[in-house]
Amino acid sequence: MTVTMDTLVSLCKRRGFVFQSSEIYGGTGSCYDYGPLGVELKNNLKRLWWRDFVQNRPDMVGIDASILMHPMVWKASGHLENFTDPMVDCRECKLRFRADDVDTLAWTHYCEATKGNKFTIPAAEPCSHCGARRTLCPDCGKGELTPPRRFNLMFKTFMGPVEEEASVAYLRPETAQAMFVNFENVLQSMRLKLPFGIAQAGRSFRNEITPGNFIFRTREFEQMEIEYFVNPRETVEGRPADEYWHDRWIADCMAWFRRYGLREENLRLREHEKDELSHYSKRTVDIDYRFPIGWSELMGIANRTDFDLKQHAKFSGKSLTYFDEERKEHIVPYVVEPASGVDRALLAFLADAYTEEEVRGEKRVVLRFHPELAPVKVAVLPLLKKRDEIVKAAHAIRATLAREWRVVYDDTAAIGRLYRRQDEVGTPYCVTVDVQTVGDSDKGEAGDGKVTIRDRDSMGQARVPIEALTGIFRDLLSGGDWAKVASEFPAAK
Ligand code: GAP
Repeated sequence: MTVTMDTLVSLCKRRGFVFQSSEIYGGTGSCYDYGPLGVELKNNLKRLWWRDFVQNRPDMVGIDASILMHPMVWKASGHLENFTDPMVDCRECKLRFRADDVDTLAWTHYCEATKGNKFTIPAAEPCSHCGARRTLCPDCGKGELTPPRRFNLMFKTFMGPVEEEASVAYLRPETAQAMFVNFENVLQSMRLKLPFGIAQAGRSFRNEITPGNFIFRTREFEQMEIEYFVNPRETVEGRPADEYWHDRWIADCMAWFRRYGLREENLRLREHEKDELSHYSKRTVDIDYRFPIGWSELMGIANRTDFDLKQHAKFSGKSLTYFDEERKEHIVPYVVEPASGVDRALLAFLADAYTEEEVRGEKRVVLRFHPELAPVKVAVLPLLKKRDEIVKAAHAIRATLAREWRVVYDDTAAIGRLYRRQDEVGTPYCVTVDVQTVGDSDKGEAGDGKVTIRDRDSMGQARVPIEALTGIFRDLLSGGDWAKVASEFPAAK
């Protein structure tokens, strides 16, 4: 099913994934705060990316650089000159538009043929009364627009107390540049051999003119970027190393998104046309996702050649080369850059996980998150909250499991309701503690020490001894098979 953005926004707010920033003051434009479940989801996403692309690979290392960098970085990288959008301003209401967007907006028109009546006319269409086309500001319908001017998307600030040109600094618009300026430090300190990559996950800032679509495009966001350095003189499987590794990274990134739940039919590759390539790129391929707003970029994988290292060498006066032992020469490595956005990936995982189904005549909303992404792994639910032994046992189980995972306890509704609540936030398993677990001391009945595990996706159940829970969840939460657990520990019908 395709979920709408409105449905996701409302679920995210209601269930504590994502809130509008500073909402009590009316919100800050296109800034969002991750709530208690959102932060868990986001941390899981970043951890998996780091585990799979850094920790598990012998050819990768990571860094965590500062957001404020030397202003020369942005001169060398080309951001000061090229990281711009053409903008037009309304001379009347002062609103600013991207020059290429003005004709894609519905426009306000005061029509003289109808005594100045105000109309809102669909984008790029003429007024049906007087036939006029838009020439003025599409929003206020009164002001003239300035000629296009280039507007730099970097956030500017000042280092130190004096606001003068010499102390200008920028919030980084991408994490990538820190990997280039630290190239020599990382190479020497870690004694690396090509090919190798440097990864970083962290905040980036862009003063986007048209942010929007929830967390898809914001002004403050997080990126997960890799700069993978290769020797351009080498060939791999008969191809230039940079071209070989570019395709390898495209395949590896696609496989990663599929592995954690994005469906094949919602993913596609898009090759950049020659005239849309960034100033540094030999070839760029985007992984597009079918978001609720339509097919859009999820991440980009670019072959940046030796552009960045050469630029930084030129502007800093430092040598940023690699000594090729075999050929006994210094070379400037080429770099392949898999660049993704944390928030955009999170939105894709949310959209893909969202399912509505009918169960016994009622709507069930389920976020079918991969267990490793799910914000809460297990919910422990007492069947009767008035029975102290049951509540005590449930708290004890939560505390034991919480040593390894995010586990919650909930007794604020009847069991059916509690299951639905956990389904809606994607909790893969619930554990229910009942009278049979603890027995009934008044009647002299001993408990069986077993609890029920309920599987989110199949809604099937298994009855397992409490002491086996940790082992079972270790298996299930790292990709183990629910059917195996259900057949080994059948629940009473
Ligand atoms: N270093 C290359 C680079 O930054 P990019 O295509 O501009 O390339 C990479 O950004 C990824 O960062 C995008 O594919 C997207 O996932 C994410 N991203 C970029 N701008 C964003 C924004 N304004 N809001 C949210 N995510 C953004």
